[in-house]
Amino acid sequence: MHKDCERILLNEDELRSRVKEVALEVDARYQGKRPLVVGILKGSIIFYSDFIRHLSCPVELDFMVVSSYGSGTVSSGKLRIKKDLDKDVAGRDVIIVEDIIDSGFTLANLKALLLERGAASVVIVTLLNKKERREYDVAPDYNCFDIENEFVVGYGLDYDERYRNLPYIGILKREVYES
Ligand code: IMP
Ligand code: MG
Repeated sequence: MHKDCERILLNEDELRSRVKEVALEVDARYQGKRPLVVGILKGSIIFYSDFIRHLSCPVELDFMVVSSYGSGTVSSGKLRIKKDLDKDVAGRDVIIVEDIIDSGFTLANLKALLLERGAASVVIVTLLNKKERREYDVAPDYNCFDIENEFVVGYGLDYDERYRNLPYIGILKREVYES
């Protein structure tokens, strides 16, 4: 385990089997359809690539870079689109794939934006859900794990752009972000 982690919250086996289970549920819903799978960079990359490999329906991939965070651990309350989609979402069935839903700010805003642009449907798939922290009226349609209010890293998630490559989800030691 990385020295900056307090403990491993979800190991590789747990991630692999639950991601597969959720992906198969989502897949069942899209039979006969051709969804646009929108990954929110960068945190979702590993989850996204594991997730899409369990889909049997034809998919199109696209990505957005948004940020509501600087380098800290608290949301700054302003969504910035740093990279927009390449595809037009009008009339499309969109699946948003996100690493974690915290206050809900990012996903509430994104979902509203894509619907405003004419998406036929928008379904939210998250790896992690910090339910307790919700401030905005949005919920994932599919979520892999509910977690407590602790700052986690790994499997794509970062603190200050670090730890994304850890193959597990670990709880970051407080001293790392409080020093
Ligand atoms: P929200 O907009 O408050 O729901 O925040 C969602 C974003 O906050 C995620 O996409 C993450 O980038 C970031 N975030 C929230 N909690 C954590 C965490 O525990 N570890 C890493 N990133 C987090
Ligand atoms: Mg993110």
